[in-house]
Amino acid sequence: MQRDAAIALCREKCLKETTVRHLISVEGVMRALAARFGEEQDLWALTGLFHDLDQDHTGDDADGHAHMAAGWLRQAGVDDRVINGVLAHAHERYRTDLMSTAVVHADAVAGLLVAAALVRPEKASGMKVSSVKKKLKEKAFAPGVNREEITGVEGSIGLPLDEFIGVSIEGLQQVAPEIGL
Ligand SMILES: [Fe+2]
Repeated sequence: MQRDAAIALCREKCLKETTVRHLISVEGVMRALAARFGEEQDLWALTGLFHDLDQDHTGDDADGHAHMAAGWLRQAGVDDRVINGVLAHAHERYRTDLMSTAVVHADAVAGLLVAAALVRPEKASGMKVSSVKKKLKEKAFAPGVNREEITGVEGSIGLPLDEFIGVSIEGLQQVAPEIGL
């Protein structure tokens, strides 16, 4: 699926602009991670973009979350690997490869980076790894962000924390103009 069509699908399915922005932020991080690993960037980007596609419909239904999205994506003819990655961000049993594991970490770090960017006058530009790590340690900052899904990245996908944050910042910066950052 081309990016324009993918963005249009997000806009069709998401009820809140903040959800669309979150999806695009994770897309940016996933594309940068794919580049770092020498993997397929468009595939990883689509997984990030679609991971919470049904968020505004499934709400607190944790078991149904991602399954509704998977149904829509199957209908739209989206690559099975992307659908598996979408399911994987919410359900551990689908974390079968690097991409479907990376999306968990990308989701968490994107949440932290966006929250950090929003409190800076320069937003995402010039953001430093060291300042993001300070925010990571501040438990009261963006409390909804799962810290373990960020700090556990090296043990999970083999990328040292500092490098992971650095690559993720670059990924966010690529999409920042689109999401007001
Ligand atoms: Fe997410």
